[in-house]
Amino acid sequence: VCKAADGQTVVIGLAADSGCGKSTFMRRLTSVFGGAASPPKGGNPDSNTLISDTTTVICLDDYHSLDRYGRKEKAVTALDPRANNFDLMYEQVKALKEGRSVEKPIYNHVTGLLDAPETIVPPKILVIEGLHPMYDERVRDLLDFSIYLDISDDVKFAWKIQRDMAERGHSLESIKASIAARKPDFDAFIDPQKQYADVVIQVLPTQLIPDDNEGKVLRVRMVMKEGVPFFEPVYLFDEGSTISWIPCGRKLTCSYPGIKFFYGPDTYYGNEVSVLEMDGQFDKLDELIYVESHLSNISTKFYGEITQQMLKHADFPGSNNGTGLFQTICGLKIRGVYERILANQKNESQVSAKV
Ligand code: ADP
Ligand code: G6P
Repeated sequence: VCKAADGQTVVIGLAADSGCGKSTFMRRLTSVFGGAASPPKGGNPDSNTLISDTTTVICLDDYHSLDRYGRKEKAVTALDPRANNFDLMYEQVKALKEGRSVEKPIYNHVTGLLDAPETIVPPKILVIEGLHPMYDERVRDLLDFSIYLDISDDVKFAWKIQRDMAERGHSLESIKASIAARKPDFDAFIDPQKQYADVVIQVLPTQLIPDDNEGKVLRVRMVMKEGVPFFEPVYLFDEGSTISWIPCGRKLTCSYPGIKFFYGPDTYYGNEVSVLEMDGQFDKLDELIYVESHLSNISTKFYGEITQQMLKHADFPGSNNGTGLFQTICGLKIRGVYERILANQKNESQVSAKV
């Protein structure tokens, strides 16, 4: 984590495998920052960039050094560092952080080729999302805050089936084969990045239904690092204690298999962390206010902001469970981190002006 100087762009890293909910997360995040993000106007229609008033989201696939044909020829996957240009990624993220525009390449997901570059001007908040935001140490050191979406194999499989089979007409066998083919590189190059993340959102099968293999009901854990500048982990009831909570009853309607929360301290890759966990799903989203009122350090600006955000995007995937809830909370926390970095920059520039 690096200390931003006056007026610098705040840089957020979001790591996950493809098809693991990054775009949904981005939509929730930019909404918290007060405006939907859209592709650059008048540019390449296949641009992967999203821009709002405050935030620019760039997709790290744009730093592929090998296009689809080059990868095929050399037999490397997109997950392999050899298919990616980390020198350019570092130079450009650094330039943006220092307030300089860059000419960023575009990886065209339709053709599999690299298109002519597009100009990216430094935003207030730069989100770099993709397979490798925390892979290269130089890029990692530029991040003010980082998130890793950790989708367990079972759940990844269920989501891929839903998307590639239902929406894209792929066969079950081909989906299984493509997941298996990615696995060694995923384990070698993507998964290890989670040790560097300030927040890891783990998505696991439910423990409320014995031997569940449907992947519909989810157990979601938000693993929050202690001691991160400008960030205080969320807690349930009493900070630092260990709590199991079943909120179902008079104030929260639950149908089978119910809802269970957990909160407590833990260690993760040798770091002190706090974990908040939700298993199960909400029946009535407006009753979420009851859960929200028992959470602290949520960086909301008014009572009920989490519930309001969740209701606003009730149609996004995961809105009735911990994925939507923790992505929303994470968005609010990132806004909190951003505002505190900004306040700190102002203080420091006032101090140096006096000196
Ligand atoms: P990415 O940007 O990482 O490729 P998306 O946000 O586009 O991922 O999500 C890809 C697909 O995965 C969605 O169309 C949906 O089918 C599934 N998905 C994503 N997030 C969730 C979720 N929280 N719950 C259920 N399915 C989800
Ligand atoms: C990953 C990358 C994409 C890449 C895809 C398929 O999901 O994020 O950039 O296009 O893998 O790679 P392929 O080599 O089959 O085109």
